[in-house]
Amino acid sequence: MSQPTSKTFREFLNADQHAHIHQDLKDLLLDVANSCKKISHAVHQGALANLLGSAGTGNVQGETQQKLDIFANDVLLEDHSRKGKLAAMASEEMDSIYAIQKPFQGAFLLLFDPLDGSSNIDVNVSIGTIFSILKHPSSSSAPTEADFLQVGTNQVAAGYALYGPQTIFVVSVGNGVAMFTLDPESQEFYLTQANVQIPKDTKEFAINMSNMRHWDAPVSRYVSECLAGSTGPRQKDFNMRWIASMVADVHRILVRGGVFMYPWDKREPDKPGKLRLMYEANPMSFLVEQAGGASINGQQRILDIHPSKLHERVSVILGSANEVNLIMKYHKSN
Ligand code: AHG
Ligand code: MN
Ligand code: MN
Repeated sequence: MSQPTSKTFREFLNADQHAHIHQDLKDLLLDVANSCKKISHAVHQGALANLLGSAGTGNVQGETQQKLDIFANDVLLEDHSRKGKLAAMASEEMDSIYAIQKPFQGAFLLLFDPLDGSSNIDVNVSIGTIFSILKHPSSSSAPTEADFLQVGTNQVAAGYALYGPQTIFVVSVGNGVAMFTLDPESQEFYLTQANVQIPKDTKEFAINMSNMRHWDAPVSRYVSECLAGSTGPRQKDFNMRWIASMVADVHRILVRGGVFMYPWDKREPDKPGKLRLMYEANPMSFLVEQAGGASINGQQRILDIHPSKLHERVSVILGSANEVNLIMKYHKSN
């Protein structure tokens, strides 16, 4: 096999186009990528490393934790607690924030869904790690949960690692989206797609159809019009894909377009949705917008939402801009 000739992730960050980015942020991103390599290695060992199945514990979201949820969370905590780049971390798998102790305190906040797609771990289907980076707003005082409650537009970087047939690292520092593929031999991430662009139109949608009877009218209308195909109001046939790992569903959209929905539904009417704003929706919305797509909760742009709590949930509709705008129109006229 020929050796990759493209840039490594480090070379990409050191290129002229990123001269304005703080060295600590570049180092932090390289640390996150290294943690993802460790998680990737564990994912690919699976049962051989006794890493499949339930851990028998629950998280603050009321979900059963898998062994890999905890393993991935521990890798990220251990790898970042003494590097001097972070003030604190927050995770889907931890009740409260993890403040960095002196003398290792830095200027950034790291948020993560350490293992997205937990229901797919044991069946060998793509899963991933999603991360978001914010600035710590007050450099002098000790970090608090309130410091994390920033709008998504404040993110200085966001991305994910996808553990699929290949391990792919996708990142944005606010000037487009780039994709890197892990070379299993050298353990380097090589740039394999720069300036990712989501097509404005699509014929593909992703939603868990088993929840159909619980949806709100605008989502029901949109999906039924897609299902009506070429003889319905959309006058074209649509295809449906649902991987049940947001990270893999969003990756497909970044690669070839589409629309992904995990909307509010009537199963738990008091919850705004299933997905988490800070660990899932904000970083994915940042990437999707950076690639020319759109991301809304039905009423507003997700990146403009002011969070009121760390583990806040949100309805998510993202992907090809013209489709997302149409779904927004259906919500506004409802
Ligand atoms: P997590 O594994 O981090 O809890 O997230 C799972 C999420 C998301 O990845 C996916 O889109 C959705 O849950 C799948 O939900 P269904 O079980 O309803 O398909
Ligand atoms: Mn998740
Ligand atoms: Mn998770």
